[in-house]
Amino acid sequence: MKVDVLLGMQWGDEGKGKIVDVLTPEYDIIARFQGGPNAGHTLEFEGIKHVLHTIPSGIFRDGVMNVIGNGVVIDPLVLWKEVQALEKLGVDVKSKLLISKKAHLILPTHKLLDKASEEAKGGKKIGSTLKGIGPTYMDKTGRNGFRVGDAIASDALTRYRALVEKHKHLLSLYGKEDESFPEEDWLEAIEWLGTMQIIDSEHYLNKAMAAGKKILAEGAQGALLDIDFGTYPYVTSSNTVSAGACTGLGVAPNRIGDVHGIFKAYCTRVGSGPFPTELKDEIGEFIQTTGHEFGATTGRPRRCGWLDLPALKYSAMINGVTHLHMMKADVLSGLDEIKVCTHYQTANGKTEDFPFNIEEPNVEPVYRSFACWQEDLTGITEYAELPKALQSYVEYIENATGLPVSIVSVGPDRQQTIARQALMA
Ligand code: GDP
Ligand code: IMO
Ligand code: MG
Repeated sequence: MKVDVLLGMQWGDEGKGKIVDVLTPEYDIIARFQGGPNAGHTLEFEGIKHVLHTIPSGIFRDGVMNVIGNGVVIDPLVLWKEVQALEKLGVDVKSKLLISKKAHLILPTHKLLDKASEEAKGGKKIGSTLKGIGPTYMDKTGRNGFRVGDAIASDALTRYRALVEKHKHLLSLYGKEDESFPEEDWLEAIEWLGTMQIIDSEHYLNKAMAAGKKILAEGAQGALLDIDFGTYPYVTSSNTVSAGACTGLGVAPNRIGDVHGIFKAYCTRVGSGPFPTELKDEIGEFIQTTGHEFGATTGRPRRCGWLDLPALKYSAMINGVTHLHMMKADVLSGLDEIKVCTHYQTANGKTEDFPFNIEEPNVEPVYRSFACWQEDLTGITEYAELPKALQSYVEYIENATGLPVSIVSVGPDRQQTIARQALMA
């Protein structure tokens, strides 16, 4: 069997958690491959909303294993709290969650470094979630990191202390050497981590594949936040694209199957960075309010704007997307018209390609307008029942991308999901 990948095609928060949960019954294993507690993946069913940060979104379904892969960075305190919250709800997390020995750990001092780095950038700050993501991946690539497997080794404390000393030195360069951090809680969380199922996840996943098990790799963030292909430097510090599933799980490129690309019927972005189709007017406010566009991790308001086709097509290309899933069409109901950016105007003329620099004034979005639908979509269960204006919008996107829109999501609940065809071959 091959590994399917599910990822965000925009700047994150597309609705990945919801669709992973919807697709989970088709799989045996759900595996997160990158990112960390900067992610906030929301699932809603039976009237309850759940937000997951580190744990894969398959955790609520029975008979499915959930893997935190080597490409993920883990804050043991955040993970512990997440597990406790799920256990309170009766979810048997311990038996269903496997953690890679090679995943890197976020130390309390990584979070201090994240904050110090952002403060030092002043007006050019990234708008990081301040969860310690950047500094932890820097230690990974700098070959100084502290992994789950290191934390359960006999010399763990010595290695931890050596890294903290290094961080204190770095903090002193920012004038922040005296900042305190909750070391005792963190060390306790490390002890707890040792009681979880810690595995060589690349072996586990490849053996599962050989045994015919179906695996879905769950991405975090979105392609436009990718460290290589996103709107650098306003990005996260990992490869959010489908290739990240290979390095973040130990799955060879020729074992990747379908790639599910999740996008909203419009665009949002939280944090700093260019956003050519951003709406800084009452339509943007309407989308923000109606779509509850506030960060699932930080609560920050999400900036809102029109769908950006050059960006979507770029994302489809880089990721090898095979199925598109369109989220939150219900949010736009009631607008007079909606717009889609079809091209950018640049100093070198019109382009449909996503340019190197999309900061103002390098690109000017060129729009096409569409009639919007007025109906409440949230109770509709069949594609044929959707308003014609929405069907035209969906079909326009299919033509523009050359890809099928396989799911149209019309509300946050698991059941508010219209699948247009059998999703699995
Ligand atoms: P993720 O990070 O990609 O998993 O997305 P988030 O959970 O951060 O943000 C998506 C938000 O939209 C969550 O609050 C979801 O409950 C909600 N949501 C998902 N799909 C839909 C939809 O089709 N319609 C509406 N109105 N909300 C949705
Ligand atoms: P999910 O998985 C939306 C953004 C931050 C900031 C930039 C860098 O829920 O879609 P970082 O904390 O990684 O240093 O922040 O990336 N960001 C997200 N935006 N959804 C996310 O995750 C994000 N994770 C990080 O706002 O702009
Ligand atoms: Mg999110």
